[in-house]
Amino acid sequence: MKTALITGATAGFGAAAARLFTAAGWRVIGTGRRADRLEALAAELGPDKFHGAVFDIRDDAARDAALDTLPEAFRGINLLVNNAGLALGTQPAQQADLQNWRTMIDTNVTALVSITHKLLPLLIERKGAIINLSSVAATYPYGGGNVYGGTKAFVKQFSLNLRSDLAGTGVRVTSIEPGMAETEFTLVRTGSQEASEKLYGGANPMTAEDIAAMLLWVASLPLHLNINVMEMMPVNQSFAGFAVHRAG
Ligand SMILES: NC(=O)c1ccc[n+]([C@@H]2O[C@H](COP(=O)([O-])OP(=O)(O)OC[C@H]3O[C@@H](n4cnc5c(N)ncnc54)[C@H](OP(=O)(O)O)[C@@H]3O)[C@@H](O)[C@H]2O)c1
Repeated sequence: MKTALITGATAGFGAAAARLFTAAGWRVIGTGRRADRLEALAAELGPDKFHGAVFDIRDDAARDAALDTLPEAFRGINLLVNNAGLALGTQPAQQADLQNWRTMIDTNVTALVSITHKLLPLLIERKGAIINLSSVAATYPYGGGNVYGGTKAFVKQFSLNLRSDLAGTGVRVTSIEPGMAETEFTLVRTGSQEASEKLYGGANPMTAEDIAAMLLWVASLPLHLNINVMEMMPVNQSFAGFAVHRAG
């Protein structure tokens, strides 16, 4: 039985992936700050299949305390899904809150590389895999995307560079780059349920289960295959044109 460590399993993609991977026969370690949600998942999926590890992904000491004391059955991690992340704010850069920028960088970049660094020796030993949640925001700019897009561009390029360094180790690395998917993402970003419902309303967005299915597909491919980058959008989402500002 293989084991996946999925960060950010208390909501959205991570919770859907925890359900799908356990149903497909994997053991899952799910992380997040909301202990009640991880406890509910453990009750739903069974403690033999799901272990909740409660810590703030930005807290190195708390992360190490949780990961260094995993139950025996969950120690042989084969797959790291770096999913925990967030956007904060939709304002243009010149009006954005600096603390929001720092929180996004701390969570989406610093914490992601830190947990990856910790688990790399084990993943190399086990010829495992890493799947990183980037975004279409890594490639396509949009108003208010500023630092969020910057963090996701980092995740994409870090994934590609990891592949270079890991050549010959058997470790696979994939950057998953979704467009609009309905989760708690917009509620977290805006702090407004109404804004969240307005964004997704009538758009037929992707679902957390759509993304979880792609994660499981990537993780289940034959070991000689590496998906480098995978980008997906709902059919109703496409690209904005270039903006031109005219004087006068
Ligand atoms: N939804 C989209 O349209 C979309 C598109 C492209 C990429 N993404 C990316 O996909 C990933 C998952 O997003 P989602 O849509 O599933 O969002 P979500 O429903 O808001 O879930 C985010 C998860 O990240 C965890 N997380 C956030 N900050 C954390 C922290 N400091 N410590 C520990 N865990 C933390 C949350 O757990 P706790 O709050 O319990 O700690 C939660 O489990 C993110 O990296 C996001 O940027 C989302």
